[in-house]
Amino acid sequence: MKLWGGRFRKDENKLMEEFNSSFSIDKRLINVDIQTSIAHVSMLIETNIIQKNDGISIIEGLKKIKNDIYNEILKVDGDYEDVHSFLEATLIKYIGEVGKKLHTARSRNDLIATDMKLYTKTETSYLILHLKELKTVLVNVAEENKKVILPGYTHLQRAQVVTFKHHLLAYTKMLSRDIQRLENALILLNESPLGAGALAGTTHDIDRNMTSKQLGFDKPNENFLDSVSDRDYLIEITSCMSIVMMHLSRLSEELILWNCKEFDFIEIDDAYSTGSSIMPQKKNPDAAELIRGRTGIVYGSLTGLLTIMKSLPLAYNKDMQEDKKFFFDSIDTTIDCIRIMTNMVQTLKVKSENMKKSVKKGFLNATDLADYLVRKGVHFRDAHAIVGEIVIECENNDVTIQDISLERLKKFSEVIEEDVYGEIDEHKTLKKGNKKYML
Ligand code: ARG
Repeated sequence: MKLWGGRFRKDENKLMEEFNSSFSIDKRLINVDIQTSIAHVSMLIETNIIQKNDGISIIEGLKKIKNDIYNEILKVDGDYEDVHSFLEATLIKYIGEVGKKLHTARSRNDLIATDMKLYTKTETSYLILHLKELKTVLVNVAEENKKVILPGYTHLQRAQVVTFKHHLLAYTKMLSRDIQRLENALILLNESPLGAGALAGTTHDIDRNMTSKQLGFDKPNENFLDSVSDRDYLIEITSCMSIVMMHLSRLSEELILWNCKEFDFIEIDDAYSTGSSIMPQKKNPDAAELIRGRTGIVYGSLTGLLTIMKSLPLAYNKDMQEDKKFFFDSIDTTIDCIRIMTNMVQTLKVKSENMKKSVKKGFLNATDLADYLVRKGVHFRDAHAIVGEIVIECENNDVTIQDISLERLKKFSEVIEEDVYGEIDEHKTLKKGNKKYML
């Protein structure tokens, strides 16, 4: 059944019908479509636009449809143009002719805009909960391993010693910003499009405040054209999700590196790895690689959404129907990736001895030695040059700075004393100055 057949003399071309249908994708909006419809019909009753007993039959019919779907008595399936067509046709099947009053004083344009906002609000709240859970797991693993030290890197070259805890907590900072960004986006989207009609409101004396309140929005969006054509919130939340995915992808990359034998800092649990069909010894970090890879899906969706919207004249255009696939893919992918990452981090084996051993290589304490020289009165730039010379000497002899005798160190700078060894010990330096924040 078409919602718009009256004006047409010919049937829709079969290929066109398939091309036009969004039902396979927007069927997941069925519950919000029912919710929006109930709010709309309640308002139509209150404003005497439809008779109370008609309105009540419609609302009861809608509730029954919802229950039947929940109890798997009714399947959200069939040859429908979209979820709205399915709901209206099903309602008419359930309650008869009076179901035809459902669409009074509304359009699919304000309906889909309202449905999408409701759906986005709920899904984004789940997303935030999952992010909070990942944050908690990162904090727990950081606390459990708070004595563990490892090389910190810049340019992927060993730089200075850091604590494993501090390294993991860097990700919790990123996740906190991600959560705040999403919460901000939720504040911004909270105006109700319902009642804007197709683009120009309605001649019926509807009450937009009532539906807005019933659906949990702050207030109605007072501009009709913007109401039906605003998809900013999808772009904004997909942009927030792109940043989330970028963070997860960076963490994945580190886990992949740390898990390989060259680093051997951690072991990713068997449950989140897979093997090779030919090489019996292999255990690959597939979960982390997939998160890194799926980041592309979310970035692609963001570009897709921006591109769909970029030259649309006001108000509604069918191009906008394509927003759903991009947004649903992004939110599903992001939530899946956060959940897998949470489990993977929770089950990581931390190889603290290997991390500690690598701290000894790569002159991680060279900057601390320069700081020591400064405290002995050497200007920093000169101290930098002196330590540079000491590093060359160490490299030539394949030793660490601590291995060099005081006598030899003094050849580089007279101010160096016996206390130097305590000042460049990687464990002790972590207790000095503002490095204490890493503990
Ligand atoms: N399926 C449509 C969408 O998702 C609903 C709005 C259709 N409106 C219309 N005038 N054809 O965008």
